[in-house]
Amino acid sequence: MTTQEGEQGAWGLAVALAAVAAVLVAMLCGGMRRLHEWAWERGLGEDRRRRLPPGDMGWPLVGNMWAFLRAFKSNDPDSFIASFIRRYGHTGIYKAFMFGSPTIMVTVPEISKQVLMDDDHYVPGWPKATCDLIGKKSFVGISQDEHKRLRRLTANPINGYEALNTYLQFIENTVIHTLERWATMGQIEFLTELRRFTFRIIMRIFMSSENEVVVESLERVYTDLNYGMRAMAINIPGFAYHRALKARKKLVAVLQGVLDKRKATRRKKLSPAHKDMMDRLMEIEDEKGGRLSDEEIIDVLIMYLNAGHESSGHITMWATLFLQENPEIFEKAKLEQKEIQRDIPPTQKGLTMKEIRKMEYLSKVIDETLRIVNISFVSFRKATKDMYLNGYLIPKGWRVQLWYRSVNLDPQVYPEPKKFNPSRWDNFTPKAGSFLAFGGGSRLCPGNDLAKLEISVFLHYFLLDYQLTRENPHCRVRYLPHPRPTDNCLAKITRLNKASVQET
Ligand code: HEM
Repeated sequence: MTTQEGEQGAWGLAVALAAVAAVLVAMLCGGMRRLHEWAWERGLGEDRRRRLPPGDMGWPLVGNMWAFLRAFKSNDPDSFIASFIRRYGHTGIYKAFMFGSPTIMVTVPEISKQVLMDDDHYVPGWPKATCDLIGKKSFVGISQDEHKRLRRLTANPINGYEALNTYLQFIENTVIHTLERWATMGQIEFLTELRRFTFRIIMRIFMSSENEVVVESLERVYTDLNYGMRAMAINIPGFAYHRALKARKKLVAVLQGVLDKRKATRRKKLSPAHKDMMDRLMEIEDEKGGRLSDEEIIDVLIMYLNAGHESSGHITMWATLFLQENPEIFEKAKLEQKEIQRDIPPTQKGLTMKEIRKMEYLSKVIDETLRIVNISFVSFRKATKDMYLNGYLIPKGWRVQLWYRSVNLDPQVYPEPKKFNPSRWDNFTPKAGSFLAFGGGSRLCPGNDLAKLEISVFLHYFLLDYQLTRENPHCRVRYLPHPRPTDNCLAKITRLNKASVQET
């Protein structure tokens, strides 16, 4: 054998060994995945197992979480669900293993609606890690009956014409002063400032008598709580979830301090000058005269204060950016606001709900922003007994993930779904279940009208008098926990002089 033949032989052997190794690794991986699936499905029995929707349970322990996080850390979060559609067809319902549980993912309007409207068979099913952050006694952890009672008590004073009317003036003053202040500040993190602005409003409703120091310290802590909300539940220093747990502890301590002070005031028989939501929560009694415990009050507050500012702050930022990036839409929205402003009687000070109702085009701008941005991209339920959706089994105890993002971007309902086009809402009312920006059923967001009011008032004054210039207009977008530019939208807000306002 020549040296050349010897070398060729050695190469051939190496290639063959590498191929065998690759096949063995593939078989081992495939075997591990099948074993993982089998371990979770074997209890179902053959008949029920065959009726599960198509899909795969991913890897042992982590399930499909790597694929999910990879997609949501890329610039194409929709590639996660797209890979299920590509592999298993457009069934709109898939099995997976997410956040430590076997899960059925629902991605289309009709099936989402069925789950959302059926409280008898689907209860909230948020991962334990999320419940530990928001609080076991908040709406994500309590019984259906208790939810109904607390929801009635807390949602009524927030929503509805009367309630919104009460908050309008405060919101308007805050918007006017905040915009004026930003215009003097040079470069700001627009998103960070908007979150402060929406936090101030929700604090006014829930804890109106607290001072600026409490407001500032709570708002800062919420940032850490939020970043841990959709992260892997790794409670080790350096990880987002660990920081979030620490943030929760701080929130509990601050709120307990406020609660103790209020109780002391009540013991002295001093009644508050103005009752806010915290006072109401302290006063609720059940049929036997029982009051809510401190833990219950604090968990409901932590949930509301969080839900009540993060999403509105983000949506206000995106709506402003979409308007700035689409000059024609900006001008149309501005024209509407100028007409509304012009028609305000000279004797009237500021906006009333009558003007808000006239903001028809602006309302479409906001709905379109909500639809595209998908702040709450997914929600969790749990089946209380074996259920069937489109003929597929949802086994008792399995999680159901409702992919609001996929529903809101469904091309069957919204052609060119990623195009920002407020006019698509002209003479269009989506069928029940096909617009889920605020969820649906008994868990529909109780702050939906308040959020739209805040955003409308902000955009009214912004459109009339201001413009925004971004430092990094092509900044990368991060999708977890909520979509945001990685620079938190560094920008300058400039006040246009009155002359240029008149010209446009
Ligand atoms: C643009 C702003 C907002 C968006 C996009 C939004 C979105 C949502 C969504 C999708 C849900 C349903 C979650 C599910 O199906 O389980 C929800 C629930 C909730 N939201 Fe909002 N929300 C916003 C603003 C607000 C505001 C301003 C408040 C407070 C006043 C609030 C308080 C809540 C609460 C307490 C829940 C839980 C309701 C329950 O379980 O009964 N949200 N929100």
